[in-house]
Amino acid sequence: MSPEQQTQLKQSVAIAAADYVAKNLPNGSILGVGTGSTANLFIDALVPIRQKIRGAVASSKATADRLTAIGIPLFDLNDVNAIPIYVDGADEIDPGFSMIKGGGGALTREKIIAAVADEFVCIADASKCVDVLGHFPLPIEVIPMATAQVARAISRLGGSPSLRAGFITDNGNQILDVSGLSITDPVALESTLNQIVGTVTNGLFACRGADVLLLGTATGVESSRRA
Ligand code: A5P
Repeated sequence: MSPEQQTQLKQSVAIAAADYVAKNLPNGSILGVGTGSTANLFIDALVPIRQKIRGAVASSKATADRLTAIGIPLFDLNDVNAIPIYVDGADEIDPGFSMIKGGGGALTREKIIAAVADEFVCIADASKCVDVLGHFPLPIEVIPMATAQVARAISRLGGSPSLRAGFITDNGNQILDVSGLSITDPVALESTLNQIVGTVTNGLFACRGADVLLLGTATGVESSRRA
């Protein structure tokens, strides 16, 4: 798939997601909004329905700026009781709707909002669908003083960690991108990685995966719900 085709698919799925929000977000409620190029297109597609949205919780500073630019009020998650719908992209998604996320480095805030949300709507182009997660390097956010310790622990698990050079997260931390993992049991690996002291968040979204997938394909947007 060429980059232009991929952008076109992201565009169509972004419009489908705005339509989904217009139909399913209860009046007066707060929307959760993810981060990345697909999420950016989704925010653009919210313009025609922004009056219906009371406000949003953003998963990154970049998303917050984009939401503000189109006039959607921002809410601090601590001031919000419920998020009926969270819309976000993914770097990979498997048939059970487990995902790798964090290519844009916003995984921690994304995982926090996903944990609060009633429904996670994943928006993705067809290139993100895989049978087994792990071709895309798994991002792990780490406290800077623990980077070497976490890297050693990851190596013992069979992964090859690589420090994302020159990148600091919105939370002031570093990212290790881990390649070489074939993730056949994403729930188990997510839990194992959560035990490594010094990690803030790993980019496996399996314990809390997506509920709905809007997938941009060459023949249109396919909508499916986790079995
Ligand atoms: C951001 O940290 C990520 O989790 C993104 O949701 C993910 O990388 C998908 O990004 P794109 O929509 O740019 O492919």
